[in-house]
This record gives sequence, C-alpha cells and structure tokens, in this order.
Amino acid sequence: MTEEENKVDGQTAEPAAQKKKKKWPIVVGVVVAVLVVAGAGFWVWHEQPSFCNAICHTPMDAYLPTYESEINQPGVDKWGNEVSNSNAMLAPLHRAAADNATCLTCHVPTLSEQIGEGMSWITGSYEVLNTQTGQQVVPEKSLEDLVAARGIEADQFCLNESCHNMTRDDLIQATADMERNPHVPQHGENQCSDCHKAHRASVNMCSQCHNDAPIPEGWISAADNTALEKELDSLNKAA
Ligand code: HEC
Ligand code: HEC
Ligand code: HEC
Repeated sequence: MTEEENKVDGQTAEPAAQKKKKKWPIVVGVVVAVLVVAGAGFWVWHEQPSFCNAICHTPMDAYLPTYESEINQPGVDKWGNEVSNSNAMLAPLHRAAADNATCLTCHVPTLSEQIGEGMSWITGSYEVLNTQTGQQVVPEKSLEDLVAARGIEADQFCLNESCHNMTRDDLIQATADMERNPHVPQHGENQCSDCHKAHRASVNMCSQCHNDAPIPEGWISAADNTALEKELDSLNKAA
C-alpha cells in the first residue's frame, strides 16, 4: 500500500490488518483461560474424596465407603467386613472430627508420586487383593510406605503441625490414665499404624499377650486381627 491509499482506506484497511494481528493473543488468552479454569476445576475435583474412586474404580472403590461410614454407627471396612463402631477407623473418625479431613488431608500428595501411581494404574502394574465384596484393594501400606515420597519420618504422617501437633512423649502423657498405656514403648517402638487403622477396625496389638489391654468400642483384639487377615489370605489363595 502507498501512503495515498492508506489515507483513503485508512478507516477500513488499517483496523482490519490490526484485527488480524490481534486475534492471536485473544485466542491464546482464551485457551489459557480455559485451561486454567479446567485445571482449577480438576484440582478442586481431585481434592474430593469421590475423585479417587471415580477415576480409579479399581483399586479405589473400597476405600470411599470406609471414609463415608457414619461415626458412632456400625460401618464397613475396605475388605467388606462389618466394623461394629466406625470410630475405630481413622478415615471416618477424622472426616467427622478433624474439620472434614479429605483423603488428601492424610495422604498429602507429591507430584512425582501421583505420576508414578498414574503410570502404574494405566499399565496395570500393581498388586491387588480380592475382598469379601468382590472388589479389589491394594495390599496394606505401612506409614513408611505412605511417607516415602515426601521424605519425612513415618510418625510425621500423624504427628505434624497440621494434625497432631505433639511428640510421642506428649502422647504417652495424654493416655497416661489408660490401662496398659499402649503408647509406652515397653518392648520397643511400634508404628502408629500397627494399632490405628484408617480403613478397617483398629487393633490393640498389646492384647496379643496382655489380657488387660483395653479394646475400645469397634476395635478388635490381636486374635481377631489374625483371624481377619487369615480370612483375606484364604480368599486370595482360593482365587
Ligand atoms: C485419617 C487419615 C486418612 C484419611 C482421611 C484417609 N486415609 Fe487412606 N490411609 C491412611 C492410613 C493410616 C493408611 C495405612 C493403612 C491403614 O492404616 O489402614 C491408609 C492407606 C490407604 C491406601 C493404601 C492401601 C491400604 O489399604 O493400606 C489407600 C489406597 C488409601 N488409604 C486411600 C484412601 C482414600 C481413597 C481416602 C478417602 C476416601 C483415604 N484413604 C482417606 C489414612 C487415611
Ligand atoms: C499398641 C497400640 C497403639 C499404638 C502403637 C499407638 N496407639 Fe494411639 N491409641 C491406642 C489405643 C487403644 C487408644 C485409645 C483409643 C480409644 O479410646 O478410642 C489410642 C489413642 C490415641 C489417641 C487419642 C488420645 C487421647 O487423647 O484420647 C491418639 C491421638 C493416638 N492414639 C495417636 C497415636 C499415634 C500418633 C501413634 C504413633 C506414634 C499411636 N497412637 C500409636 C493404641 C495405640
Ligand atoms: C509378644 C507378647 C507381648 C506383647 C505383644 C506385648 N507384651 Fe508387654 N509384656 C510381655 C511379657 C512376657 C511381659 C513380662 C516380662 C517383661 O517384663 O518383659 C510384659 C511386660 C509388660 C509390662 C511391664 C510389666 C507389667 O505387666 O506391667 C508393660 C507395662 C507392658 N508389657 C506393656 C505392653 C504394651 C503397652 C504392649 C503393646 C504396645 C505390650 N506390652 C505388648 C509380652 C508382651
């Protein structure tokens, strides 16, 4: 275009050319906005307990009912067994007690762990166990397994600033009036998850040898625990 033509067509030609140029940033802007909104939506959804089993039916389906069990009522464990009082499972107890704890309040995710789990899920390279209800779960994890990706101590799964902001010594004090205080490391330290179970009835392991070890409501004895584990074993040997 010459300067002359520019002047004549100025009103139409110039803005048209400019519009063409400016579409790109708009398109990119819209795409970015959509991705951000979708991403934020995904992230919010990802934080909902229902996300875990909506995407990964196997092996996550069995965990949601444990979490949703009503406290002070009978509930169901991840293996499909009845739990006489759901308070004995940490997941529903913390959902009710600890300000709506979600799966991710306890299972604090790291990106690398999620990518790893996602890959295992897609390729199907993970171990599963059959349950009473015909669902499948993964073998029980220890606290060490659960914090491995975060590089923290097993105890810090429970004993941390956002959850139980206390030491093992504080805990011993807190339950000092319990008969055969289960938090005293009389025979060496136990993992919290040896007794406290999140997705099945908790077990007082001291009862294996001490008849006076208290079994709170809904909890089970070491003998009942052995029986439950045997049942699960035979279910999986038969399959
Ligand atoms: C109060 C903390 C807490 C909450 C809330 C919680 N979990 Fe867990 N989760 C644990 C602990 C502790 C274990 C280790 C095994 C156990 O103690 O039962 C575990 C184990 C697991 C495992 C490993 C397999 C196994 O059986 O050990 C999966 C999968 C899992 N939880 C999924 C979930 C899902 C899904 C939710 C939400 C619907 C959830 N968890 C909510 C604490 C929690
Ligand atoms: C040998 C079994 C056992 C071990 C191991 C164990 N606990 Fe406990 N814990 C119990 C029992 C039993 C109770 C009483 C539960 C009830 O009355 O409902 C209890 C109660 C608690 C309470 C409630 C205390 C209160 O103020 O009433 C907390 C918190 C707790 N345990 C945290 C932990 C943590 C954290 C660990 C690991 C550092 C742990 N426990 C290890 C058996 C155990
Ligand atoms: C494998 C069996 C066994 C288990 C499990 C066991 N104990 Fe013991 N415990 C014993 C024996 C045997 C003695 C008596 C001999 C001794 O003092 O070591 C004892 C003694 C004790 C004593 C001192 C003596 C007494 O009877 O008062 C305490 C306290 C104690 N245990 C607490 C616990 C607690 C708490 C747990 C669970 C965290 C536990 N024990 C788990 C076998 C066990």
